[in-house]
Formats: sequence, C-alpha cells, structure tokens
Amino acid sequence: MLKIISVFGTRPEAIKMAPLVSLLGSTEGIKSLTAVTAQHREMLDQVLTPFGIRPAYDLDLMRPRQTLTEITCRSLTGLEKIFQEAGPDLVLVHGDTTTTFAASLAAFYQGIPTGHVEAGLRTHRKDSPFPEEINRRLTGALADLHFAPTALARDNLLGEGVPPGSIYVTGNTVIDALKTTVREDFRFTEPRLLEIDFSRPVLLAEVHRRESWGAPLESICRALRRLVDELKLLLVFPVHRNPAVREPVERLLGGHPRILLLDPLDTATFHNLMHRCRLVLTDSGGIQEEAPSLGRPVLVLREVTERPEAVEAGTVQVVGTAEEAVFRAARRLILDPEAYQAMARAVNPYGDGRASTRIRDAILYHFGLIPTRPPDFTAGKRKPE
Ligand code: UD1
Ligand code: UDP
Repeated sequence: MLKIISVFGTRPEAIKMAPLVSLLGSTEGIKSLTAVTAQHREMLDQVLTPFGIRPAYDLDLMRPRQTLTEITCRSLTGLEKIFQEAGPDLVLVHGDTTTTFAASLAAFYQGIPTGHVEAGLRTHRKDSPFPEEINRRLTGALADLHFAPTALARDNLLGEGVPPGSIYVTGNTVIDALKTTVREDFRFTEPRLLEIDFSRPVLLAEVHRRESWGAPLESICRALRRLVDELKLLLVFPVHRNPAVREPVERLLGGHPRILLLDPLDTATFHNLMHRCRLVLTDSGGIQEEAPSLGRPVLVLREVTERPEAVEAGTVQVVGTAEEAVFRAARRLILDPEAYQAMARAVNPYGDGRASTRIRDAILYHFGLIPTRPPDFTAGKRKPE
C-alpha cells in the first residue's frame, strides 16, 4: 500500500484538494489520509463537511488575528509529530499558503517526498501576492513532484531548473470541484439570496488579500459603493472572516439597502451565485480561475496576477485597487453590452475537470505502480467535460 497524506488548512486548499482526496480514497493500492492544520477553522469546516472529508489529524491551530510567524511555527511543530506517527510515503500539499510551505518543510526535514499540487504559478514579484509568491517558490524548491496546472506554470518551473521529468501538467483541480457544484436548478438556502432578481445586473465581490489591507481595501470599498449608488445595482459581498478585512468592509459598505454583506458562503452556494451574477470583482486566486469557466467576466483588484492565462483569453482584466480605475472598469462593463460580451465567454485555460485523475496517475507512475506517464493537460476545450 502506498501511504499518502494530504495536508491543508485554508478554504481554497480544501476546495481544490477535495476532488483529489476523494479520488485517492477510492483508488486500489493507495491508503489516503488527510491532516488539517485548520489555519482557518470555520471556513475550512465549511468545505470538509459537504465534501465528506474526515481528517485523520486536525491540529486546530487557528487563533484570532494570528501572525504568519505563529502559524508557520505551530504548523511545523504539529506536522512533525503527525508525519512521525503516520509514516507516509508521500506528502501532498497545495498552492501557496503558510500551511503549504510549513508542511513541505516538515516533510523535507524527515526525508519524506512531497508532491506540490498547483505548482509553478508566478508573478515574479516577491511582494505580491504577499507572502504567497514566496510560499509557492519555497514549496517548489522543496517538492519532488510538481503538478503544474498549465503549460505556463510548467515553463516557470523549467526556467528555475526543476527537472522536467518531475513536472506533470494536470489542469487545476478547482475545475474538477466546479463540475460537482454548479447546477441550473440549484436552490439557495440563504433567504437573502433567494430574493434576488438575477435578470437585473448583480455584482459579486470578494476581497481579502494581505497586500490590500488598509488604504487599497478602503479605495476598493469606495468604488463598490459608488457603483451601487450611481448605477442602481445590487452588490453581494460574502466577507472573509479575517477581522482585518471585516472591519473596513462593514464600516464602508454596511447598512446600505442594495449591498448584501454576508458571511462566507459554502462552496456550492458561492459557485452557483457566481454563475448567476453579472460581474465578479475580486482579488481571490481561485475565483479568477472559476469565473472564466462559467463565462463570467472578472475584474482583478490587484496590481499583478500569477494567473495570466485568463487575462490572455480576454475574460479577466487586472485593474488594480485605485477607486477610479475599479469604478470605471466596472461601469464600462455594466453599461456597454459589446464590451461585456467580449469578456463573457466561457473559456477553460485552467482545466477540463480531469486534473485529479492526472495527478493520481502521475503519482502511481512515479512510484512504478502503472507503466505509462499520464498525458499532459492542454487547454482549449470550451466546456468542462
Ligand atoms: C490565507 C492565505 C491566503 C488565502 C487565504 C484564503 C497564507 C499566508 N495566506 O490568508 O493565501 O488566499 O487564506 O482565504 O496562508 N479567520 C477566522 N475564521 C476562519 C478563517 C480565518 O476567524 O475560518 C480569521 C482569524 O482571525 C485568523 C485570520 O482570519 O487569524 C487570518 O487567517 P489567515 O489564514 O492568517 O489568513 P490570510 O493569511 O489572510
Ligand atoms: N469561496 C467560497 N465561499 C465564499 C467565497 C469564496 O466557497 O464566500 C470559494 C471560491 O469559490 C474559491 C475559493 O473560495 O474556490 C477561493 O478561496 P479564497 O478566495 O479564500 O483564497 P485564494 O483563492 O485567494 O487563495
């Protein structure tokens, strides 16, 4: 039996690892375990329960307003014990969070091979996203197997001297997850969402990045409020539980009759809401990957993105965080049907819904359990399979 332990701790890692964990669990010859740091608590549990993931280990590390140092140190210490007890043949980590970096370092210290899911994304800027660009690069330096979602991510790794044989282009597992959640007949359980008339333009916003805390987040909020007021729109904004985000968002956007500030939504509700709204404004990484697949234009409220594929495909635009730039870009898309239609095409540069299968097969191939290397994912299909 090949023993694999998947480690994650935050909402996005859980959503993107869920399809893979489920597949590994049903694969003969693999014993699949999960360990969560719970760097996020409620937002992680919101994913674990509906996806039916029962972690073998739960470090329950989240503290209010935790610092990066605290979460790194406590993850490293906790995971050392878990790896000693579980004795895995492979540790799987995902993406760019503090949990990701700490888990790959803890595995390295014990000589356990690591597989990095969603490897190779880069802005080539150390400060943005902060600290995720560096978490991802450090994890790449420690990993033995690299599951790059796209050809561009593979090329980034090759450019850094990663051995070609250790890189597999798989697509992003977020598209696997999306395939299981979006339904035309999905019914919201949240009463305030049930009341929305989606035949009118609805804006969906989600903003939480550390590099935007303070003035940039405040200017984004002002732009959102102006859009709602001047264009008479409805804005739905599920607010991250981080107090550094909640406080300014509630102060600047709370109490408005056409602004719905909600608690973070469960994954299926959020995906179906995104499917029905007109325009998405976000600094989230995962949302930038999901919305193009649903044909929803995205304005990225950041200076740079490590996910340029959808920008090249024309469905995502990077607009920064300045109030005027955000306001003008969104107003144009709401008022100009041609500009909107040019962006509202379903494209799938990030995956075809089969990323988990490719990753599972790559692992089996690496350990000599199947004879052939899985073929790489190539973009181009218009709809997830
Ligand atoms: C982290 C990730 C970031 C990812 C984001 C996704 C790092 C360095 N950053 O952001 O890449 O985009 O998660 O959401 O790992 N909190 C709760 N309940 C929750 C979750 C968070 O109360 O379920 C509050 C706590 O006060 C916590 C704070 O949010 O201390 C910050 O959580 P943290 O994981 O440190 O968030 P970020 O680093 O901002
Ligand atoms: N998401 C969710 N509920 C919400 C907001 C977002 O389930 O209220 C999902 C979203 O669909 C995506 C993921 O959370 O799959 C992105 O996570 P986040 O934005 O926290 O992190 P990032 O992708 O920026 O690392």
